[in-house]
Amino acid sequence: MSTDNPKDGAGNGAEEIESPEVEEAVEKVGPASELAGAIEAEDEVDASGADPEPGNGATGTAADQEPDSRVAVSGEPEPEDPFIAGDGAVLGRDFLLPGVDPGDTDPYKWHTGAKIEAGGTAAIEVKDLVKQFGRTRILNGLNLDLPDDQISMVLGPSGTGKSVLIKHIVGLLYPDSGDVLVKGQSVPDLSDDDLFEMRKKFGLLFQDGALFGSMNIFDNVAFPLRQHTDRGEDEIEHVVTRRLREVGLGEAHYKMPNELSGGMRKRAGFARALVLDPEIVMFDEPDSGLDPVRTALLCELIREVHAENGGCYLVISHDLGTARRIADFIAVLWKGRIVESGPKDELFESENEFVHQFLRADVTGPLAMD
Ligand SMILES: Nc1ncnc2c1ncn2[C@@H]1O[C@H](COP(=O)(O)OP(=O)(O)O)[C@@H](O)[C@H]1O
Ligand SMILES: [Mg+2]
Repeated sequence: MSTDNPKDGAGNGAEEIESPEVEEAVEKVGPASELAGAIEAEDEVDASGADPEPGNGATGTAADQEPDSRVAVSGEPEPEDPFIAGDGAVLGRDFLLPGVDPGDTDPYKWHTGAKIEAGGTAAIEVKDLVKQFGRTRILNGLNLDLPDDQISMVLGPSGTGKSVLIKHIVGLLYPDSGDVLVKGQSVPDLSDDDLFEMRKKFGLLFQDGALFGSMNIFDNVAFPLRQHTDRGEDEIEHVVTRRLREVGLGEAHYKMPNELSGGMRKRAGFARALVLDPEIVMFDEPDSGLDPVRTALLCELIREVHAENGGCYLVISHDLGTARRIADFIAVLWKGRIVESGPKDELFESENEFVHQFLRADVTGPLAMD
């Protein structure tokens, strides 16, 4: 949470994102970013997770911001042997990690960093990604390769930075340091025009489908085609009809979004995410707000559509049922880094204590209620 946002300290729980870079990025780009803009609005973020120490945020005085050498931002004396991140920043003095005691000298003891090769080439490579908002470091040297032509899942407790990670992949947020490569191209290095082109490779599906409320379902799904291609209306109708049929909405062309159930809206959002035949499709918590049966049906649909179209799918979730159903490849995110990643079956069999606890929803283990 940005420390220069005066609303941060208000504690009203509403997620306000006023990062200038986000606003700028949203302004610059086309429909993919409109979707992404809608994410910002819809993102249910645990605001409390951002600033574990009340008083370290916007309300802090200059003295809080510029601590003397022995007093950490946490207000605690610095430990003898503090944890130092890859970029030399000191935990508790220079930054805080949500859910981590600022005096913790070894926050990554469960992060074996083990990477079990998925086979094939990586469609997305994240390298030493660091992102900090104010004093709160959300991603702290994250490394991850996501295989092409598989359904990958990034799983992790809420507020760990899963959405922040996706926003780096689509170029809505820029790293403090590190890099994100999509098909070998560095996203932060792209010019605005190239970023706009690259976004055509992405299909994005966020939360509620992020449909335009004033357009019927057909026009919503046709939107990227009308915006990004010069195809004629006949061809557009052909593509939209096929995609809507594929997601089971063949009869819903003229319905308005508010006439559809939550599950149908997500399916319409999925159809829209597919119309440009994207090489990469990303889903941010597609299962949120759906009952178990609809979640299972949506998972089945995602698998079927992937089997038909291929490509790199990235599904973000904290739902283990979804992971069991659709993932080929799983990465577990915690404390701003990947604890372990690899093919689903191997991760579900992992002996890593955190991965084991998280994937079995066990009450005992390194993850506690903090
Ligand atoms: N643009 C932003 N400005 C400030 N803080 C942010 C911003 N985006 C995300 N955060 C903070 O980063 C943390 C992780 O958010 P998020 O990635 O949405 O978590 P999740 O894993 O649940 O998707 C949250 O505490 C959130 O408040
Ligand atoms: Mg999220």
